[in-house]
Amino acid sequence: MTESAREDAGAGIDLERPNPARVYDWFLGGSTNWAVDREFGAQVLAAYPAVRTMARVGREFLARGVTHLARQGITQFLDLGSGVPTAGNVHEIADSVNPGSRCVYVDNEPVAVAHARVLLEREGDPARHAVVHDDLLRADEVWERAVATGVLDPHRPVGLIVVNVLYFFGDDDRPHEVLARYRDLLAPGSYLLASHLTDDGASADEAGDRDEVRDRYRSSGSALHLRTREEFTRFFDGFELVDPGVVWVPEWRPGERDSPATAEFAADPVASSGFAALGRKP
Ligand SMILES: C[S@@+](CC[C@H](N)C(=O)[O-])C[C@H]1O[C@@H](n2cnc3c(N)ncnc32)[C@H](O)[C@@H]1O
Repeated sequence: MTESAREDAGAGIDLERPNPARVYDWFLGGSTNWAVDREFGAQVLAAYPAVRTMARVGREFLARGVTHLARQGITQFLDLGSGVPTAGNVHEIADSVNPGSRCVYVDNEPVAVAHARVLLEREGDPARHAVVHDDLLRADEVWERAVATGVLDPHRPVGLIVVNVLYFFGDDDRPHEVLARYRDLLAPGSYLLASHLTDDGASADEAGDRDEVRDRYRSSGSALHLRTREEFTRFFDGFELVDPGVVWVPEWRPGERDSPATAEFAADPVASSGFAALGRKP
């Protein structure tokens, strides 16, 4: 990482434990990760080699979703749990369809936030792009801070993005309540784009390998909470599901944008271990 990003991240970085944002960056081939993240990532890959492709498939879904929303005329985005910036960030994809689009990124990982700031200082426009360092579970605070950046107009539709994040939150009702709160804050005509890891469809063999991955994440301090199709679908309460509804990630509008990793799962979409969907607030 750059020196300025390192300084910006400051003392908030925990280098004793692997961090999901940095491990994910490593899966995607990025360089914003430390030895502790790479060691952990390598252990996960050894237990479940498909993980690297799954990460790329997740990014490709994000790109297809943002492209679709931009083509529907959505020009402002709130990306929750946005991660370490990598190829195909939301503001870049949105701008490629509608130049002049707006985006606020939110993450609670200091390194991800620092990197996003460096990237936007270099390539962004402060009137159209911002980063908020916060816990996305604090919906009212995050919304207030995102609006206070001046980037988002709260009276116009927003594309709310929660891709590859919700499985970091526990099995109680809180994550659903949080998403419902964001839904209530959004203007009519806004959208929720989300994906989620699942155990649905896993064979007995795979279930054992996944248990090992889950044990590793749990002991690193970031437990994974996989959800069924029904539990994932509940995040869209109060939204109208957009065609094709809740589907395996590779099945979500594969023609919307070129998605090379996704094509690897075309014959067996269940192997992606993830659901995806888009909902519109009426
Ligand atoms: C697997 S990465 C996904 C990144 C990005 N959404 C994508 O699809 O490429 C999950 C991200 O969620 C962030 N995250 C986890 N819990 C969070 C929380 N409570 N508030 C904000 N961000 C969070 C992590 O720091 C990480 O950057």
